[in-house]
Amino acid sequence: MASRLLVCIILCSYYHIAHGGDKHGFVAVPTRSSEPGAVCSSTSREKLEPGRATVSLPLVHRHGPCAPSHSTDQPSFTERLRRSRARAKNIMSRASKGMAGTRDDASSVTIPTHLGGSVDSLEYVVTVGLGTPAVPQVLLMDTGSDLSWVQCAPCNSTACYPQNDPLFDPSKSSTYAPVPCHTDACRNLTGDDYGNGCTSGGAQCGYAITYGDGSQTRGVYSNETLALAPGVTVRGFRFGCGHDQRGPNDKYDGLVGLGGAPESLVVQTSSVYGGAFSYCLPAQNSEAGFLALGAPSAANTSGFAFTLMSRIPDVATFYVVTLTGIAVGGKQIDVPPSAFLGGMILDSGTVVTQLQHTAYTALQAAFRKAMAAYPLLPNGDLDTCYNFTGYSNVTVPKVALTFSGGTTIDLDVPNGVLLQDCLAFQESGPDDQPGIIGNVNQRTLEVLYDAGRGRVGFRADAC
Ligand SMILES: *[C@@H]1O[C@H](CO)[C@@H](O)[C@H](O)[C@H]1NC(C)=O
Ligand SMILES: *[C@@H]1O[C@H](CO)[C@@H](O)[C@H](O)[C@H]1NC(C)=O
Ligand SMILES: *[C@@H]1O[C@H](CO)[C@@H](O)[C@H](O)[C@H]1NC(C)=O
Ligand SMILES: *[C@@H]1O[C@H](CO)[C@@H](O)[C@H](O)[C@H]1NC(C)=O
Ligand SMILES: *[C@@H]1O[C@H](CO)[C@@H](O)[C@H](O)[C@H]1NC(C)=O
Ligand SMILES: *[C@@H]1O[C@H](CO)[C@@H](O)[C@H](O)[C@H]1NC(C)=O
Repeated sequence: MASRLLVCIILCSYYHIAHGGDKHGFVAVPTRSSEPGAVCSSTSREKLEPGRATVSLPLVHRHGPCAPSHSTDQPSFTERLRRSRARAKNIMSRASKGMAGTRDDASSVTIPTHLGGSVDSLEYVVTVGLGTPAVPQVLLMDTGSDLSWVQCAPCNSTACYPQNDPLFDPSKSSTYAPVPCHTDACRNLTGDDYGNGCTSGGAQCGYAITYGDGSQTRGVYSNETLALAPGVTVRGFRFGCGHDQRGPNDKYDGLVGLGGAPESLVVQTSSVYGGAFSYCLPAQNSEAGFLALGAPSAANTSGFAFTLMSRIPDVATFYVVTLTGIAVGGKQIDVPPSAFLGGMILDSGTVVTQLQHTAYTALQAAFRKAMAAYPLLPNGDLDTCYNFTGYSNVTVPKVALTFSGGTTIDLDVPNGVLLQDCLAFQESGPDDQPGIIGNVNQRTLEVLYDAGRGRVGFRADAC
């Protein structure tokens, strides 16, 4: 606790200095040896404005001490980065196929929309109540896929992986019903390539998803009451009741899809919440953030800076923003506007930001120059990592991202810039291909995906 307080005193005082006319663009931060970690900080740091027409759920890191079923076998740093990179490649490839499909009007390009992004890299979970009476379900939050699902009883140990909570049992819920085949909902599911045929003489609509990491879920497309918070329910929520799962055994109960296709929770609840959602990923895994449905009223978006949201033709899932510049230590990196033409997908499940070649090269050089006082480690899982052994604090440059329309956000220092003492960026590929803004950069910001108004908002210091 004492060290937490110290972190706050140092960070908070520098925060005020930084916002009171700091000209240097650098922030001194304690090194990680003083970082808390093992204990969940119970105080909620959520700072949503009062009276906002939203529902908000606590969101925690699945491998952190705040996780409801926190397992001790965490993936190594190398493994986390491997998963993040695999997810990113899968998403970027689907996105660039979608873009290519319209660019050359090549009708031969088929986009596997039934593929979700990898799920093994997903890191943040929320707890919802499913059924009547409501049964708590711990779900991975995924902005890179649409259809939500949970593991359902009956399911034997080969078809379902072990999870901490009891399996959701539809026979014990008074509001559960399979979605019948002849409904629009089932036809739409099939049209979106998530469908998997009909069973029980047309009474049950099947679904199937294969994710980029090879994991799969299959079962019955179902209709159920979903409790987002006490007293806040969604009736007729459609999700997959999974009876056949393959893939990593990570002890979560299922997934909540927040992508832009009709199957997603966000789109299903758009008549209530306007197709908008936001989240704040906490600075550290020992803290909680939030996931909220709904946008602030148009009259009160104080604290938010907005930029245009664009979408990829034929790939409804992803949300795209356009970078126009990056500053390191208060100085713009020198790259032509064409360096950012590929666009950036905002993603909650990719860890490290994937930046196109020209911009990445310039960012890496500027960051290394600004950090020249510290020993650079040889290239490992990431290429810009430091050895801070022997330093009680380090001076880290601020990194600011500017988006189309001129909106600039300062990444949190150090938690939005550094991951395990490494620059939380890596090279994605050619400049005209899409990149990804990963979840480390998003920490402490409220990121508002307001598809209804075609914009993305950022609000600093939100959790
Ligand atoms: C608008 O939001 C701010 C903070 O985000 C809050 O302090 C204020 O009370 C809100 N105003 C209204 C009218 O809701
Ligand atoms: C488990 O369930 C699957 C799918 O329902 C089935 O194919 C398999 O034979 C079952 N295995 C055992 C050991 O019962
Ligand atoms: C099915 O898709 C159509 C066309 O996109 C849409 O208007 C309709 O609301 C969808 N219905 C359901 C139940 O998802
Ligand atoms: C889901 O259930 C509700 C009632 O609980 C019903 O009104 C609705 O039509 C059902 N939707 C589908 C797609 O089965
Ligand atoms: C980091 O620096 C310390 C002190 O200079 C040194 O002893 C250690 O070997 C270095 N570690 C690595 C991985 O280079
Ligand atoms: C940072 O570390 C240096 C020496 O490494 C020390 O002189 C300075 O007081 C420290 N600053 C803070 C804010 O802890």
